Formats: sequence, structure tokens, C-alpha cells
Amino acid sequence: MPLARSLSVTSLSGLEEWDEEFDLEDAVLFEIAWEVANKVGGIYTVIQTKARLTSEEWGENYFLVGPYVESNVRTQVELIEPTNPALKRTIDKMNSSGCKVYFGRWLIEGSPYVVLIDVGFTAWSLDTWKSELWELCDIGVPWFDREANDAVLFGFLTAWLLGEYAAQSEEPPHIVAHFHEWLAGLGLVLCRHRQLPVATIFTTHATLLGRYLCAGNVDFYNKLANFNVDKEAGDRQIYHRYCLERAAAHCAHVFTTVSQITAIEAEHLLKRKPDIVTPNGLNVKKFSAVHEFQNLHAQSKNRIQEFVRGHFYGHLDFNLDKCLFLFIAGRYEFSNKGADIFLEALARLNYLLRVSVLRWFDVTTLKGQAVRKQLWDTAQTVKERFGKKLYESLLVGQLPDVSKMLDKEDFTIMKRAIFATQRQCQPPICTHNMLEDSSDPILNCVRRIGLFNSSADRVKIIFHPEFLSSTSPLLPMDYEEFVRGCHLGVFPSYYEPWGYTPAECTVMGIPSISTNLSGFGCFMEEHIADPSAYGIYILDRRFRGVDESCNQLTSFLFQFCKQSRRQRIIQRNRTERLSDLLDWRYLGRYYISARHMALAKAFPDTYYYELNEPTSTSGFRYPRPASVPPSPSLSRHSSPHHSEAEDNDEEERYDEDLEAEKDRVNIRQPYALPFK
Ligand code: G6P
Repeated sequence: MPLARSLSVTSLSGLEEWDEEFDLEDAVLFEIAWEVANKVGGIYTVIQTKARLTSEEWGENYFLVGPYVESNVRTQVELIEPTNPALKRTIDKMNSSGCKVYFGRWLIEGSPYVVLIDVGFTAWSLDTWKSELWELCDIGVPWFDREANDAVLFGFLTAWLLGEYAAQSEEPPHIVAHFHEWLAGLGLVLCRHRQLPVATIFTTHATLLGRYLCAGNVDFYNKLANFNVDKEAGDRQIYHRYCLERAAAHCAHVFTTVSQITAIEAEHLLKRKPDIVTPNGLNVKKFSAVHEFQNLHAQSKNRIQEFVRGHFYGHLDFNLDKCLFLFIAGRYEFSNKGADIFLEALARLNYLLRVSVLRWFDVTTLKGQAVRKQLWDTAQTVKERFGKKLYESLLVGQLPDVSKMLDKEDFTIMKRAIFATQRQCQPPICTHNMLEDSSDPILNCVRRIGLFNSSADRVKIIFHPEFLSSTSPLLPMDYEEFVRGCHLGVFPSYYEPWGYTPAECTVMGIPSISTNLSGFGCFMEEHIADPSAYGIYILDRRFRGVDESCNQLTSFLFQFCKQSRRQRIIQRNRTERLSDLLDWRYLGRYYISARHMALAKAFPDTYYYELNEPTSTSGFRYPRPASVPPSPSLSRHSSPHHSEAEDNDEEERYDEDLEAEKDRVNIRQPYALPFK
């Protein structure tokens, strides 16, 4: 669900500016990844969003290297002649030696140069290169593993490119080559083996073995130090891939991972501790009007409400305006992404809300009101149509023919309204017909916990098993619009090396729940003195059992539901204030450090980097906000049943922080749960 984001940050309010003195005049940077101009996974977002900042830093000396995929090039790349003479000679030489290498501009922010290599065109070399790989480091790649075959071709071709570039350069060049993930890692290994004048960096965004082990039912973090890595990789038939990844990690001048949690994983599974953590950033769009994001929330929420109205037709026995939208989204990995504990917590929340002593309306009364309103609206529509016909008749000087005042369409509208308010079956859980309905993990879990959208349920579920799109007839919104319209993103992942989903929520001013097993959660915990005051709830999945974590999650959800609209608005303002922390303009510095470190290691005569020097980010923490939202128990009526008066109060929202300061009561007092 990649987002097209544009960047227009004016300042890094409150965050330190940073400058690392380094003369890069004669250096060139190649950044190599299978996902350059090729959207196959999360690394695409990293590379694509970072490009602008890196282009600004390196200008004409920055080249992204990726695979040539015709359909991608047609839509995203403008092919041009290389401007750098050494690179032009390199590409010409390779193309006259049986390769197909293209050069162009990637049409994204920053318009970086791209070198795209057609690996299929050089497939005739696969066997030779595989035996060379075997001779070199005893890694045998089986013929049936298509991805690994591509990794071999891509690796040999990128090493060829870098070697050729070094040979074609007039002066001995200072090359930095940054390789991402195992699929690109072999190029790095070959650079070192061939002793090319290249400072190498390897970034792993998740370890192969970690992902596999977590997807199985393994107590991953408690056993991390004791896995027999070779056996585990062999058992999963990924030994060759694992070896490629581990070789790249060990050969690199600088090894990095995207988060502290992945650093621990890498240390145990790849047996090298990363030199530096390079967190993932975003391009943050700042609006000129401070509260623009709040307005966008209201607009998108209206559209979600429209969809919900349709989904629950005949069962709208709840007030949509008082309805909170919580969502989870991501790759369909049921337990890695924490969908299991999210559903379980929703069932517990449902129970809590049902037994809660809050002032709930009687459901049947509400239902009656909703039905009444729907019928009233229909009557108004028909009345207007009737009036129009009456007027038209009078305009031509005739008395109306009463038998023609209601036509077929009017009757259809009325019949539909009657049928709609009489629907017997429950509103569906899933928006689509699932092919494997009976074995689908989410549907099975919903069946087990019994959340079937009955009128008595305070928590309703809708499962949309497809990417969102603004052209969908069902829910015509893209992912970004959808997130803006929601109230809370819930991402209780068990395995999440970084976690773009909560980061995206944050920059849009939408609070989120993540975990201390996700890169994002660890990063926020480290950089914010009081994350939950900013709408960043971090679930402990590392040091607690599943049931306890689930209770904590339920408690977060319950607290959130108890907030008034005013408290939610204040909280969103705070969440949005953290955007700068997640902006590449801030986070780019870690990549810069990694490059300087690599240059100093590879070319010690030219570059110097003080390894033990603290970076400008170490020790930095976002301060506790000046005020904390007032406790829900002390504020006015709690959502979803706070008073109309309070809703109308919103004009005051620009002063909310000041208001809240007066209350000074901490919202984050844990609520006692009956499950303990
Ligand atoms: C934003 C809008 C308000 C709207 C509010 C709803 O702040 O600017 O006009 O009333 O969102 O907040 P809620 O949390 O109830 O969706």
C-alpha cells in the first residue's frame, strides 16, 4: 500500500539541525536494490521516499541501480543518455559485451538517475556464474529457486558495473555502494572478493530466517540466542539464500539494519552486530494551514461513514457520528502482523463496552430512531420530486393529474426504503466472497470469538481483503484517505523490523498502537519521553505473554474509546507534531553517517570518521507535552456518547492544548480490567 507522498517541510521544529563535515566532491554513490523502480515490497517505499534527500546531497553523483522491468520503465522512468562520461563508457562497454543496461531518470521526487539491468537478457551466464559462486564460497543455488537465480545474475551484473566504472574512471574513484537486502547482497560480496575500490554498505531490512521463524509457531525472541541457524535455514530450504545474506553482512565495510529490534535479530541470526541503525523515514507533507490535517480527517471520515451506512443498511442502530473507526492493515501475515491479538482484544473490548457503566442508549430505541430517520429521509426525497412535478404542471397553467404525481421510480424508492429497514440477516463481516472462506485465518478467528455484527455488539467488524483504491465501487478511497478518516491504527505486530503503517498514521496525525517488537515502536520509545501522551501507544509484546499483551491492548482500546471528541482532537494535534521526527530530513542523517563510516574504512588515507563519536541523535528525546489531555472520567460525557454541546464546541479546538493544561490530569492511568 505505498503512498505517494510529497515533501515540503519548512523546518525540523525542535529537532537539532545536523551537519557532518565530509568532503564528498569526488565520490560517487551507487545504491543497489531489487526494488529500485520496481514495486515488490516495503523496500520500494524506503528507496523511493529517500531519493529526494539523497539526490539533494549527492546531485549528479548519485545512481540507483535496479532490475529492468519493462512495464515499470514504461510508467516510471524516462530513458536518457548517461551524463557522467565514465558511466556512459561503462554502460556502452557492458552493452557491447552481451548485457542490456539502461540509463534514465526515475520520475519520482528528486528525479534520481537510475541504472537498470535486464537480468533475463544475461541469463545465458547463469550456469557459469553459479559455478563461480560455488568455487568462490561454496554457496550452491538450486535451479528451481527463481528468485535466488535472479539474485545471482543481479549480483554478478552489479559487481561488473562497479568494476567497469572503476576501470573507466580517469582518476581512481571513491565509490560508495550501498546494497539493500539479500537479493542485492551478492554484488557486495563480489566487490570485496575482486578488491574493487568501493566502500560497501549492506542494509538488511529484515533477516530471512527471522521472517521464516516468526511465521511458524516459534517463541522467537526468547530463543533467539540459541537457534542452530544453519539447521533452521536448511529445514526451510533457504540455506543458499541465508548464506548469501550472511556473506553480504560479513563482507560489508558497514553493516546496518533498520531498527534496534532487527539489530538484535541480526546479531544472533547473521552473527554480526550492525555498525549503525538506519531507521526508515517518510516524506512529510506540511500544510500551510496548521489544522488542515484535522479537516482532512473530517472529510475522509464522512466518506468512510457513507460506506459503513451502506454496509450496515437495515441495521444502523448506532449513531454513525459517535462511531470510532479503528483499523489494521498490511501484508496478510495473520500472527506476524498481530491480527490474532487485535481480534481477541476487540472481543474483550466488546465485552467491556457492553458491561461498562457508561451511559449507553438502549439499542432498540436507537434502532427505532435510525429506522425512523431513514424512512423520513425517503419521504422527504419523494416529497421533493412530487413538489417539482406539481410546480411544472402549474407553470404550464394546468391543474395536476394526481394519479401521475407518483411515478414508477418514486414507488421503487419507497419500496427500497421499506425493504432496507427490514433486513433480517446480520450485516456481513467480509466485503468480498472469499475463495477459502472456511480456512481463512481472520474469518475463522471471527467465528471463534463470535463477533458477528449483531445489534448488541458494541464492536463491529468489517474485513476488506483487498488493496484499497479510489476507483473501487465499494469503498472508493485510496489508503492514505482511508487512514486519515480513521481514529486509531492498530498494529500489534509480533514481527515488524520497522513498520511503516504506524509511521504513516503519525505523519497524518492519526494515533496508533504499535509494539516494542516493532522497529517503529522501539524508535518512538527511545525518542519520546512519554509516547502515549502523543497518541503513540506501545504495546509490550516482548516481556509479556500473549494473554497479558492482549489485556494491555484491550486497555489501550478501552482508554481510547473513553476519550471525548475534544480529547481526540488534542491528541491528533500532538501526534502530528511528531512528524518531523519521522521525516527523511531528520532520519537521513543515519544513512549519511553510514556512508561516511564506510568511506573512512575503505579509503582511510582520504577520509576519517571518529567511530566512537556520539551522533547528533544519541540521547535526543521528545519532551513530555506541556499538557496532557484530561482524564476521560473527569471530562464531559465520554465518546461515543458525549453531549451534542460538546460536539458543537469544536470551534474552540485551536485553544485545546491550553484548555487541557488546566485539567492536568493524566489520561494514561491504566484502567482495571476484569480479565486479570
Ligand atoms: C477534526 C475536524 C472537526 C471534526 C473532528 C472530528 O478535528 O476539524 O471538524 O469534528 O475532526 O473528530 P473525531 O475524532 O470525532 O472524528
